[in-house]
Amino acid sequence: MAESILNGRRVLLIIGGGIAAYKCLELIRRLKERGANVRAILTDAAQQFVTPLSVSSLTGDKAYTDLFSLTDEAEMGHIELSRDADLLVVAPATADLMAKMANGLANDLASTALLATDKKVLVAPAMNVRMWTHRATQRNVETLMADGVDFVGPNEGDMACGEFGPGRMAEPAEILAAIENHFTELAYPGGGPLKGKRVLITSGPTHEPIDPVRYLANRSSGKQGYAIAQALARLGAETILVSGPTHLSDPPGVTVKRVETAREMLTACETALPADIAICAAAVADWRVASDAEQKLKKQSGEQAPALMLVENPDILATLSQKKNHRPPLVVGFAAETEKVVEHATSKRERKGCDWIVANDVSPATGVMGGDLNTVHLITREGQEDWPLLPKQAVAERLARRIAEHFSTAKAAE
Ligand code: CTP
Repeated sequence: MAESILNGRRVLLIIGGGIAAYKCLELIRRLKERGANVRAILTDAAQQFVTPLSVSSLTGDKAYTDLFSLTDEAEMGHIELSRDADLLVVAPATADLMAKMANGLANDLASTALLATDKKVLVAPAMNVRMWTHRATQRNVETLMADGVDFVGPNEGDMACGEFGPGRMAEPAEILAAIENHFTELAYPGGGPLKGKRVLITSGPTHEPIDPVRYLANRSSGKQGYAIAQALARLGAETILVSGPTHLSDPPGVTVKRVETAREMLTACETALPADIAICAAAVADWRVASDAEQKLKKQSGEQAPALMLVENPDILATLSQKKNHRPPLVVGFAAETEKVVEHATSKRERKGCDWIVANDVSPATGVMGGDLNTVHLITREGQEDWPLLPKQAVAERLARRIAEHFSTAKAAE
């Protein structure tokens, strides 16, 4: 938990009355997972969509609803609610709530808290497309921007009202990223510690074609590599993510190059060089079919099942580590092992020639495969660091910070 930029940050979430209010429950859960303290205010309309009970169960605090509640005022006055927060997030921000904000109205708890704050306010609008594009709403957006309010979304897409266009609230992951960016900018006012560094990351599985409709693949989700890319971008690095096929959306601030096969992944990596750091987190298929069929393989009755002849794929980590020209000064690999984790990872590091290797125990008893937690050992040329059991997101953030530390130590030694 201590690894997240959100750890100990106080977020006041103001939930407006829109169908997207249900997404706030997921947002609260993710903020809490990262160690943030979340307080929530629900407008009257919001309570038509989510209940104070569900919000309060997730924040672990009471849900604030009433400006004139004697008990609330005695326990935590409305001014105190905004004063006590590091950041105010309005999600979903309805047209009505934004109009109130733009005009300084304060006639309920939400609008009062918003007027009483001198902290940054982040707004995630959600409304019907014509309400969003209406001149009045756009005027309010301009006013709010001029007042220093930040926006995330709205996105374009199908809407609950059956229309299509801009007005959908940003997804919880996008709002979370905007919140993390805000706190990162506060923590590193002159730009992150990796500003000026270029990072190349591989992630996800590769798909190796058998014929135009079939392929060989593995179960990698790509989550760990995407989280690392995002964590590095947040520390200011120019980040290029070469990703095999995944269902994940592009992390904000990261240039994503999508590929299918190991050979395409290698070409994309080589094209992206030079880089200061290369991180190979992809689960590259070790083998591909020697010659994939141009047409779909047909099943002929009476014939034997076809035999697939496999040939070895290029090893991207080893290729980057052993480059004569443009070898990135820091090359990091991964090693998922089921036994003798450190021993196997140490010899893998030496064999492939990378500088660091992130080793984890994926034996079934650990629950790492498909789970959210990970126990990692960082093997470097100098030795071994054992990290505590951490959420995968925290592993990414810790690795990003460890890389920043490595470069600042190297610079100090110059
Ligand atoms: N790797 C790579 N290209 C490959 C195979 C692996 O870049 N063709 C990288 C992975 O991204 C990872 C590291 O090498 O960073 C180790 O991957 P792993 O699958 O554990 O290595 P293997 O060489 O396949 O070793 P093993 O014998 O354990 O399967």
